[in-house]
Amino acid sequence: MVETVQGAGVVVTGAGGGIGAALARRFAAGGARVVVNDLDADRAKAVADEIGGIAVAGDASLIVTEARDALGGTVDVYCANAGVGSGGSEAADESVWALAWDVNVMAHVRAAHTLLPDWLERGGGRFVSTVSAAGLLTMIGAAPYSVTKHGAYAFAEWLSLTYRHRGVKVHAICPQGVRTDMLQATGSAGDLVLQPTAIEPEAVADALMKGIEEDRFLILPHPEVAGYYQARAADPDRWMMNMNHLQQKWETTE
Ligand SMILES: NC(=O)c1ccc[n+]([C@@H]2O[C@H](COP(=O)([O-])OP(=O)(O)OC[C@H]3O[C@@H](n4cnc5c(N)ncnc54)[C@H](O)[C@@H]3O)[C@@H](O)[C@H]2O)c1
Repeated sequence: MVETVQGAGVVVTGAGGGIGAALARRFAAGGARVVVNDLDADRAKAVADEIGGIAVAGDASLIVTEARDALGGTVDVYCANAGVGSGGSEAADESVWALAWDVNVMAHVRAAHTLLPDWLERGGGRFVSTVSAAGLLTMIGAAPYSVTKHGAYAFAEWLSLTYRHRGVKVHAICPQGVRTDMLQATGSAGDLVLQPTAIEPEAVADALMKGIEEDRFLILPHPEVAGYYQARAADPDRWMMNMNHLQQKWETTE
């Protein structure tokens, strides 16, 4: 277990299930004091009770101060994990785009805004962003998700390069399919693109712990994503042509 986890005050948003619950369990197993946040109060309480953590229900954007107070005034690790899987195209309703921006990007910005003054004063703090491989690549059939996950990645990257010399550590977790409720909800596009290589949420927690140990920003629970990311950068048109083939294949399954 990672040394820095023992005794640490940790907040995990969206931890009532899926990846967030796996992260909360892993931090608690390592001896951390964990705040389990979720919009769903019952699910947050169930996970908190299971791991001896503290449940703080509510919108991830609104609970940062309450979560910090619950940890005695100091957050050592903040996991911005809550996310919405917003599918759809340019025609998705404005409310779908707005929710995706709010949860997938602005909740991270707001948390950082609240936490940074203390972290900079102390010269330490760790911000973990559960992004997605869609934040490096894309997800067919899901424009709001792809765009806002690129935003989440860009924000994590910006935080890291801006504050790393002042002791702030940032990690961006970018998995492909993970077997959670969100994956179930992705429908035929998820069946085609994500299900075949889907991993368990515990594997994401393993990857984060390894990334913390190795002090790495980019955490890829599916290592093959590194190659796709390189291919996209090296030849964008070729990469988009290949993704378009996938799009066309998906259209025949719909
Ligand atoms: N499952 C995947 O295949 C996959 C792949 C890559 C990235 N991700 C990302 O992982 C994160 C966790 O997703 P998951 O797959 O565990 O999904 P999930 O649906 O199992 O869990 C998400 C949790 O977040 C909670 N939530 C939603 N909005 C919230 C808000 N505003 N405030 C607090 N809690 C909120 C939900 O109630 C839910 O319990 C998300 O950011 C998601 O985009 C998931």
